[in-house]
Amino acid sequence: MTNVKFPTDFLWGVSSSAFQIEGASTEDGKGLSTVDTRKVKEGIADTAIASDHYHHWKEDISLLAEMGVKTYRFSISWTRIFPSGEGEVNQKGLQFYDNLIDELLAYNIEPLVTMYHFDLPQNLVDKYQGWLSRKTIDCYEKYAEVLFTHYGDRVKNWISINEELMVMYSQDFNGIRNLDEKQYKKAVFQMMYHMSLAEKKAFKLCHELVTDGKIGPANAFQNIYPATSDPLDVEAAMNAEEFLSYMLLDLSVKGKFPENTLRYLQKENLAPETLPEDEEILKNNKPDYICFNYYASLCAEFYTGLADDHMPPFFRSNRYRIVPNQTKSLSEWMVFGIDPVGMRISMRKLYNRYELPLMITENGYADSEELSDTFEINDEKRIGYLQLHLLECSKAIDEGIPLLGYSAWSFLDSLSGREGFSKRYGLVYVNRTDDDTKDLKRYKKKSFYWYQNAIKQNEFIVDEGKKNYDNK
Ligand code: BG6
Repeated sequence: MTNVKFPTDFLWGVSSSAFQIEGASTEDGKGLSTVDTRKVKEGIADTAIASDHYHHWKEDISLLAEMGVKTYRFSISWTRIFPSGEGEVNQKGLQFYDNLIDELLAYNIEPLVTMYHFDLPQNLVDKYQGWLSRKTIDCYEKYAEVLFTHYGDRVKNWISINEELMVMYSQDFNGIRNLDEKQYKKAVFQMMYHMSLAEKKAFKLCHELVTDGKIGPANAFQNIYPATSDPLDVEAAMNAEEFLSYMLLDLSVKGKFPENTLRYLQKENLAPETLPEDEEILKNNKPDYICFNYYASLCAEFYTGLADDHMPPFFRSNRYRIVPNQTKSLSEWMVFGIDPVGMRISMRKLYNRYELPLMITENGYADSEELSDTFEINDEKRIGYLQLHLLECSKAIDEGIPLLGYSAWSFLDSLSGREGFSKRYGLVYVNRTDDDTKDLKRYKKKSFYWYQNAIKQNEFIVDEGKKNYDNK
């Protein structure tokens, strides 16, 4: 049995995002965003009600207080503040987050605010082609200015953009549907470059407008091992890791592309168009920390064809093929391999490369769950997953990594990226299914109580050898 301890200022938290929990997608002047207009699969819940947090926010924050978290990571919906992504500010939208932030602070919960989590204003897509245009950079900059000016007296910790990797590839998030396959393949990197410029502008503004303000990106870190010790697999893993993670993070931190990846993009005629004046903004504005989201590790093997169609688009490449980590436990929803040690390895990789403090802003266990007759959710597997990942956090801190905090994904059951409510990550159960909104009542899962106790004690005891989530 190991006693896992944390520094007294460790930021224990939970995470959420606006479109996945708020609902009220057209209420109080909110405009539509790409995640509202996307086509969801038949029978899957959409953003109209989600977890109905917009109407349960007070009760939800009291649950956070009961859980004892030190920080709460949530996102602001861009189209609540600017319904069209530009133009007039919606006062009711501003007010909603004023109330939320004030309530959190009343409970001594530090807000950690994501400015943009997948929900691009639809009007910016219709009018300018979204992130393909520099106009969207200007709109994001204006939005950032409003957020920092309005909330900066109370919110000190900011996240610029959640998972650029997902936004650049997913049409559901970036809204770009009018290009052919070849055009789209190139557009992906133009969108990425524009998002990188936009977030640099946010870093600059945050430092200018928010006293003691800190800001960083939230990266979907892909920790990739070579599938074998064959040097060609080793190189494939390097290619994949650089392409999927370091390209974005190097732009965020160093303001430039990794050389190998840039040459590849140029050779394939995929490199984005840049302007000479970008150099100054890219080079001079650094983040204060790196936030990263981590669920599993992956393996890559040598490959030169066009990778399998069943993989998500960002895993299709002619320089590597992504395969599950067969040495790790897989489950119904965690299909690539659960790897807690890999999270510590990721921290080491990130710190060695960037020498910035780190925050884990998402990490969690997905399962299909139903309330028992006694209104309980006995989510032992989630507890096991959290325990073993937090154990690695504690080890990383002991090894000298400046890890500021850990926010579990997710606070409430919410709309999953693609699978709605059939796939749940919450520490709090929300009583609805995809096709029946029921009473939307909240029920604390067993993991809620486990997490509450760990936070209270600032430590917990774990059997390192026991993997409760293991189906093998
Ligand atoms: C991250 C996102 O990619 O992963 C979250 O930031 C998302 O918004 C989470 O919910 C889990 O992914 P999914 O698709 O299982 O919900």
